Amino acid sequence: MPKIIAIANQKGGVGKTTTAVNLSASLAAKKRKTLLIDSDPQANTTSNFGITPGNNARSFYHFLLGDAPLKDVVVKAKPPGLHLVPSNTDLAAAEVELMKVKSKQTVLRDRLHDSADHYDYVIIDCPPSLGLLTINALTSADTVIIPLQCEYFALEGLSQLLRSIKIIKARYNPRLLVEGILLTMFDRRNNLSFHVAKDVKLHFDNKVFRTVIPRNVRLSESPSHGKPALLYDSRCPGSLAYLNLAKEIIEREEK
Ligand SMILES: Nc1ncnc2c1ncn2[C@@H]1O[C@H](COP(=O)(O)OP(=O)(O)OP(=O)(O)O)[C@@H](O)[C@H]1O
Ligand SMILES: [Mg+2]
Repeated sequence: MPKIIAIANQKGGVGKTTTAVNLSASLAAKKRKTLLIDSDPQANTTSNFGITPGNNARSFYHFLLGDAPLKDVVVKAKPPGLHLVPSNTDLAAAEVELMKVKSKQTVLRDRLHDSADHYDYVIIDCPPSLGLLTINALTSADTVIIPLQCEYFALEGLSQLLRSIKIIKARYNPRLLVEGILLTMFDRRNNLSFHVAKDVKLHFDNKVFRTVIPRNVRLSESPSHGKPALLYDSRCPGSLAYLNLAKEIIEREEK
């Protein structure tokens, strides 16, 4: 069975997609078969691989609503060993359509059951909301990674997210755990980054990843080249940080 990790934070622009893409690429580079699911109608993860989020193409929407099996919506990506379930704006309608479904909170879990067996990891990029797409990701997941931007108001909304995780754990998914809080866009020239990092570690101590993701322009450039940072500049600090994060996660698993 794969380990399923949701990347969630209802706060926008904190590095969810950057983490989903570059962690997945790093896991694949470390020879772990990885499936990356773009569960955000913005489809930034999809664009990140140079795929134009077309409207008629088979996508996560079709898989989620039972119109296509996983194998028909999966696209091979690079590095080798990385597969992607692309998304497009159609997915926005899924939130509405799911409202009519009986087990609307657990559709994704039921759909993924059995069909993702041959992967080591499944990474799910969530939209910036606590709607049904995020709920479905959390209901399916073994763990959740919460990216926090090293900025003012970093902790804003975090208690609400943790409360939602607690409710989902109690109602639908008893095994759900917080894999870790990931500090992103850390800028060593900015005192504020140090303050935020210290504050988060004080509050959440052992829940914070050792790996901190630096602010690195390579990470923001690589999407426009249609590739993860690792394939754009394998030695840049951003690529190295995400390789380290993958290592940290794999080592825990193997302990
Ligand atoms: N470590 C980093 N260094 C530099 N730029 C970064 C870094 N992480 C993310 N960015 C940039 O910040 C912006 C927001 O990042 P990203 O899209 O990953 O956030 P998100 O949480 O997925 O956003 P949304 O909530 O809209 O889905 C993007 O332009 C991205 O390229
Ligand atoms: Mg995103």
